[in-house]
Amino acid sequence: MAVSTTAVLSLLLVACFCCDVFLPSLASSSEENFVACLSEKIPGELLYTQSSSGFLSVLTASVQNARFATNATVRPACIVTASDVAHVQDAVWCGRRHGVRLRVRSGGHDYEGLSYRSVRAEVFAVLDLARLRDVRVSPGEASAWVDSGATLGELYYAVGMASPTLAFPGGACPTVGVGGFLSGGGIGLMMRKFGTGADNVLDAKIVNADGVLLDRAAMGEDLFWAIRGGGGESFGVVVSWKLKLSVVPRTVTVVNTDRTFDESTAAVLAKWETLAIRPFLPDLTIRAVVQGNNTVFQTLFLGSCSQLISKMDAFFPELGTTAADCREMSWVRAMAFIVLSSKDVNVPLEGMLSRTNNLSGYVKNKSDYVRCAVGKAGWERVYREHLSRNGALMMIMEPHGGVVGSVIADSATPYPHRRGVLYNIQYVTYWCCAADGGAAEAAAGLINGLYGFMEPLVSSNPREAFVNYRDLDIGQNAVGDDGVTTYESGRVWGEKYFMGNFRRLATVKGKVDPGDYFRNEQSIPPLLAV
Ligand SMILES: Cc1cc2nc3c(=O)[nH]c(=O)nc-3n(C[C@H](O)[C@H](O)[C@H](O)COP(=O)(O)OP(=O)(O)OC[C@H]3O[C@@H](n4cnc5c(N)ncnc54)[C@H](O)[C@@H]3O)c2cc1C
Ligand SMILES: *[C@@H]1O[C@H](CO)[C@@H](O)[C@H](O)[C@H]1NC(C)=O
Ligand SMILES: *[C@@H]1O[C@H](CO)[C@@H](O)[C@H](O)[C@H]1NC(C)=O
Ligand SMILES: *[C@@H]1O[C@H](CO)[C@@H](O)[C@H](O)[C@H]1NC(C)=O
Ligand SMILES: *[C@@H]1O[C@H](CO)[C@@H](O)[C@H](O)[C@H]1NC(C)=O
Repeated sequence: MAVSTTAVLSLLLVACFCCDVFLPSLASSSEENFVACLSEKIPGELLYTQSSSGFLSVLTASVQNARFATNATVRPACIVTASDVAHVQDAVWCGRRHGVRLRVRSGGHDYEGLSYRSVRAEVFAVLDLARLRDVRVSPGEASAWVDSGATLGELYYAVGMASPTLAFPGGACPTVGVGGFLSGGGIGLMMRKFGTGADNVLDAKIVNADGVLLDRAAMGEDLFWAIRGGGGESFGVVVSWKLKLSVVPRTVTVVNTDRTFDESTAAVLAKWETLAIRPFLPDLTIRAVVQGNNTVFQTLFLGSCSQLISKMDAFFPELGTTAADCREMSWVRAMAFIVLSSKDVNVPLEGMLSRTNNLSGYVKNKSDYVRCAVGKAGWERVYREHLSRNGALMMIMEPHGGVVGSVIADSATPYPHRRGVLYNIQYVTYWCCAADGGAAEAAAGLINGLYGFMEPLVSSNPREAFVNYRDLDIGQNAVGDDGVTTYESGRVWGEKYFMGNFRRLATVKGKVDPGDYFRNEQSIPPLLAV
């Protein structure tokens, strides 16, 4: 007894001694070996360590939220700015060999900054894909290959230049990266007609956890299913995507209708929210943006003004849209007009190619899905008790229904919020000008107050959320004793993003990355077959 106790004690002592003294130096030597491994394979000008003079400017070049640009952020030990697919493979290979994880960054828009920061203290590297950004359009077959590091604006521009009648159903921000957007499904103003962005992916190239480059045929249909909306980071590094382009009329119509809050606005919103599924009008999308006392209805109609007016007269006369409100233009010009938030129909299309970020804004967002109409009385309370009291709160609402919600099955891709969903809500709160302190707490109080108020009005069991509007408040992974993310911890947030598709995602992860190399605070945990 005494002997074995002593043995146990000395083992404990050795174990503690190891943790306290040797692990940090082991960690830094694996970091050094990782950098040495990269240096053998990748040109030095593509590698940045914390001591490189360009490190901070490269790190923050595509950071889109000032909250995560401060020095309180856990930063990468090293950044690899891959300019060739081989560099991606080298980074994965060196990372696996020396035990350094990679965080993949395409456009850097992740709402929690998970593509370039870690919540926990850990040694990791950023694999930045901004240099891998070719867009190759094949107008004859209505398709395009686009690299993950391209932005949505670059994609729209290239498609618009290639053909006046081709389009891609993407989102409303030009600097969002194609890699993150498609990895999260990707919703937008044309999904009622064409589905989500990921619904339109025909093929993809991924570098897996062994550093091997695979196309659709080689990766197999399970992994190909998972990467089209199962969230970024979890399955490997998608380097490019083959997209099906959509055929649109030469002329589409855009209308912005501004309303100031009064009782009639609540009634108009109550009518608007019933339009998404009934009647079935896939060519017509009306997005509602509510901030303070102002509501903007943003209409995109895939047809002419006169056709739009006849539909509005028949189905939504309450909005009062007339021909004088219409702006007719090509699809690509409509995208520039919408995504550059411009009042100018002649805004240069090249504005969509800008990658300049703005680090003066502090932002926190959350999301919901609505399956039962909120109704006029509900909208009056939302305005009176929240929005009109706080100009810093915004709700952006994207109608579903149409093809995205009524034709494509809930399990066709990982994006599950389809049948029965009226619309998605994105809550936004802005503050200024400090990352922490009273302003951040006040903003959190505002958005949490509104989110709490909305609870009885939105989806429940689970309260659904959109993975592209990432929110760490809804849950974070825990790592088990085996060093692998636990399935139970992933379910907490994962079933909100993926509902019934979560288990299949975890099963795919268990097959392609059972050791959990690709992970972050909300990556899919591996579910191993027993
Ligand atoms: C102004 C604005 C408007 C937006 N509008 C919409 C919208 O209309 N519809 C919509 O769906 N979303 C919208 N979003 C959300 C946006 O789609 C997501 O934030 C998306 O994840 C950003 O992609 P990214 O490449 O820029 O981000 P990143 O920060 O680079 O990546 C996001 C996540 O994906 C991972 N990842 C990135 N690239 C790859 C890759 N190549 N392979 C594997 N994993 C990868 C990252 O590690 C990270 O976890 C909007 C965001 C903003 C800021
Ligand atoms: C972090 O930034 C603040 C403000 O810019 C500065 O005062 C502080 O010295 C920085 N801390 C470190 C560790 O760099
Ligand atoms: C929140 O949403 C707004 C509007 O879409 C966007 O401008 C902002 O960048 C988003 N927040 C974060 C943290 O990125
Ligand atoms: C940057 O963002 C801030 C805060 O959202 C805004 O006030 C400012 O106008 C923006 N600057 C540019 C150049 O867009
Ligand atoms: C909205 O209007 C009300 C009534 O005029 C006013 O008291 C309130 O300050 C306004 N809210 C905002 C955010 O401007």
